[in-house]
Amino acid sequence: MISDRIPKTDNSEKSRMVFLTGASRGIGAAIAELLLANGYRVALGYCHYPGETTKLADMFPTALPVMVDIGEQDSITSAIDAVRRHFGVEIDILINNGAIAQEKPFLELTSEDWDRMLSVNLRGPFMFSKEVLPAMLSQQWGRIINIVSIGGQWGGMNQVHYAAAKAGLINLTRSLAKLYSGRGVTANAVSPGLVATDMTRSEIASERGQAKIMSIPAGRIGTAREVAAAVMFLCSDDAGYITGQTINVNGGMYFG
Ligand SMILES: NC(=O)c1ccc[n+]([C@@H]2O[C@H](COP(=O)([O-])OP(=O)(O)OC[C@H]3O[C@@H](n4cnc5c(N)ncnc54)[C@H](OP(=O)(O)O)[C@@H]3O)[C@@H](O)[C@H]2O)c1
Repeated sequence: MISDRIPKTDNSEKSRMVFLTGASRGIGAAIAELLLANGYRVALGYCHYPGETTKLADMFPTALPVMVDIGEQDSITSAIDAVRRHFGVEIDILINNGAIAQEKPFLELTSEDWDRMLSVNLRGPFMFSKEVLPAMLSQQWGRIINIVSIGGQWGGMNQVHYAAAKAGLINLTRSLAKLYSGRGVTANAVSPGLVATDMTRSEIASERGQAKIMSIPAGRIGTAREVAAAVMFLCSDDAGYITGQTINVNGGMYFG
């Protein structure tokens, strides 16, 4: 029977353990709220300030705020240990969302700017993925979801290092999909276009940003909730045959 070949949906799917970086604000806080409201257990990574993670932990007993700087290997290791100690389980789903941005003309970028950008936005997801993969592989189920950016697809003008890091993250996603999908661990990227958050405040306020918004086929910027909805679908058992993909949530700004 055809149905015998389709993996059965596990009823405990929604209580799976998620580690979400950058949960303190913006898109990460929206992903956190949606997953928690749907019963997932979520480790809410923040780096500088707990921000929304404190409020979410008051609302949902399955939430745990955890400090993690993804630019530092030791910080990643201790954050994962804290989740193991608190919940007594391994991480089933990793969402690499936390990131930095820096608007600067290309000719003014320094090697330090470049290294900092790559260490947080690309090396961070690489190190985090390596930490959680062994447990996912031993249970033959896992999800790695990387939040990338339209800049990583079509190139950057005022944030070349950011665009390069996100392009690298798209390729890391594809490589992980090639390596591990056959063992039950999918890897996908979600690529937002323009969403109003702290990261985009100055761009949206600028003339260049307003012109960009005018050119969006959907006629508006996106919401953090719209990005979160795509992420939550990728977390599900129903998304088990989607891997190595970049899911665009961009109102039609880019079709590739
Ligand atoms: N907004 C957009 O239009 C847009 C478009 C394309 C892609 N994206 C991507 O979407 C994701 C979320 O962006 P956003 O707009 O929500 O950004 P945001 O509001 O600036 O939030 C950034 C998040 O990343 C965390 N973070 C910063 N440095 C970190 C580090 N070293 N280690 C761990 N976490 C760190 C921050 O934590 P603290 O609060 O503790 O500093 C914060 O939670 C990012 O990957 C971004 O590149 C956003």
